[in-house]
Amino acid sequence: MRLADERLNVLEHPLIAHKMSIMRDGSTAPSQFRQLVHEVAMLEVYEASRDLATEPVEVETPLRRTVGKRIAGEKLAVVPILRAGMGMLDGVLSAIPSAAVGVLGMERDEQTHQPHEYYAKMPRGIADRTVFLIDPMLATGGSALSAIHYLREQGVCDIRFLVLVAAPEGVRAVLQEDPDVRIWTCALDDGLNEQAYILPGLGDAGDRIFGTL
Ligand code: URA
Repeated sequence: MRLADERLNVLEHPLIAHKMSIMRDGSTAPSQFRQLVHEVAMLEVYEASRDLATEPVEVETPLRRTVGKRIAGEKLAVVPILRAGMGMLDGVLSAIPSAAVGVLGMERDEQTHQPHEYYAKMPRGIADRTVFLIDPMLATGGSALSAIHYLREQGVCDIRFLVLVAAPEGVRAVLQEDPDVRIWTCALDDGLNEQAYILPGLGDAGDRIFGTL
């Protein structure tokens, strides 16, 4: 698999690039960091929802009847991976307020070191929904794959994984393991350090969102 995979979307937009530079800056305060995560998540889901099907809808304006468009029957869900994914939730919901929300908590098993879900609460009919899975950082891909595996087990077909920063290692792992998932990222960085932090990255996204530095 090459990284120039058609299922990988690296967003190039001046607004996103500008906001990402401020987020990468280690001196940016948690309050501003949180606000920027919100703004970038909103822009990202705008891109990741580009190909949703629409259908015509008749509308009565104050002046006359016309035909507009609406999202065609697709039920949408947003699924943040705890904890850092919560930082992107409001941004995504401000673009798609009617989306249902599922929550997925992932932790590493002490014995096997494999991530598995310790908490999952999905909206009804999750199998029939287009799911925007959200987590700011795609590092090794361990928790992402575990989350994707969980959603596949629930019968979800259309998984759109939205991250802010991705490492090539994580992208490769996710695309290799799951033949259908699509990824959107605002940056594709150089790689991982020994502690599996993304370089140059932006540090620990969860700590910066929640001010637990
Ligand atoms: N998780 C983070 O929050 N940051 C990284 O760089 C890698 C994983």
